[in-house]
Amino acid sequence: MPELSNGAKKIYGEAAFEVLAKAQELERKGKHILHFEIGEPDMETPKNISEAGIIAIKNKKTHYTPSIGILELRKAVQDQVEKTRGFRPNLDQVVITPGLKPGIFFSMLAVVNPGDEVIYQDPGYPTYGSVSSFLRAKGVMIPLLEENEFRMNPDDIKKKITSKTKLIIINSPQNPTGSVMAKSELDEIAMLAEEHDIFIVSDEIYSKMTYECDHYTPTARDEARERSVLLDGFSKYFAMTGWRLGFMVAPVKMADKLQDFLVSAVSCTADFTQWAGVEALTGDQSFIADMMKRFKEKRDRIVKGLNQINGFKCLSPRGAFYAFPNIKKTGMNSQECADHILYKAGVAALPGTAFGPYGEGYLRFSYANTLKNIDEAIERIEKSFH
Ligand SMILES: Cc1ncc(COP(=O)(O)O)c(C=O)c1O
Repeated sequence: MPELSNGAKKIYGEAAFEVLAKAQELERKGKHILHFEIGEPDMETPKNISEAGIIAIKNKKTHYTPSIGILELRKAVQDQVEKTRGFRPNLDQVVITPGLKPGIFFSMLAVVNPGDEVIYQDPGYPTYGSVSSFLRAKGVMIPLLEENEFRMNPDDIKKKITSKTKLIIINSPQNPTGSVMAKSELDEIAMLAEEHDIFIVSDEIYSKMTYECDHYTPTARDEARERSVLLDGFSKYFAMTGWRLGFMVAPVKMADKLQDFLVSAVSCTADFTQWAGVEALTGDQSFIADMMKRFKEKRDRIVKGLNQINGFKCLSPRGAFYAFPNIKKTGMNSQECADHILYKAGVAALPGTAFGPYGEGYLRFSYANTLKNIDEAIERIEKSFH
């Protein structure tokens, strides 16, 4: 075979899928596995949203749409951003995407050149590092420390900014730690970006998933008009991972380019999916409050349980649906501990190192599971250490 491109050699996948494959292999051999590795809600898409999608198919919404998205959904996003972020973007700043991930990929493609530096969280969502590597940019990691409740410290960013820094990626609420940044911290980072002429990409896929605190966006400062890009999507808080629907709010010049990327890569987001999205944003919102009430109960249960396990110590995360316990006192590293609980207890969780070197000493549990399974997992893990 002829040689693959340099970019192809540099892009990489996600460990979640590797752990899932290992767990499924054990299941094929008859072992019962409790799944805590998968980052998606354990609920079905609300009925009103699914029905809107079905009606759209029946109404022949099965064709190409403008690559930027249908007007009805872009207007709904405009209203949504005004309601939740406190600023009203212009319509030509709003771009619809098939899931949030293409928003990460295309906004990075739009601003990063080889040799540029990209700042992101460690541990953090693997896509940022993978795409930086693909673009032959230098990834500059900001450690998220347990003593700072896994929040990015703006002073750490300040120290790492150089003349080559092109982009800062922020994810709050955060995967994998569940941390939520404070408004003052986000504003400080936005000011640093302004001062040093750097882009910000803000991945807000968990924006409606906070406990005991509010979500803020670093893009409010410039209203995503100059240097910041707001990314959000329907996957998590509307339980729509398989529908593939997200949106970006970006400076107009960049939004034009993002459209060109979309045209070249996917043409557009599925027509009927976008109509389901209109219903999601404009229809009954009670699903989210119900889901978050249930997630809070699960969070409290798993955090309490993890803290009872010898060698485990777990903060109570303020967002998303992940717990990130410190397992250093077990004497194992992250990978050993993840393998131990998978093979000895039949509990699948991710090693913290799947999210970067500073994830060493931690595991990530997605607690999108039943209370019964959470209790059973804790019991099995406890036993496996005896
Ligand atoms: C931080 C973060 N961004 C983006 C995504 C992907 O979103 P989507 O499925 O809408 O592409 C995830 C999913 O796990 C995530 O955790």
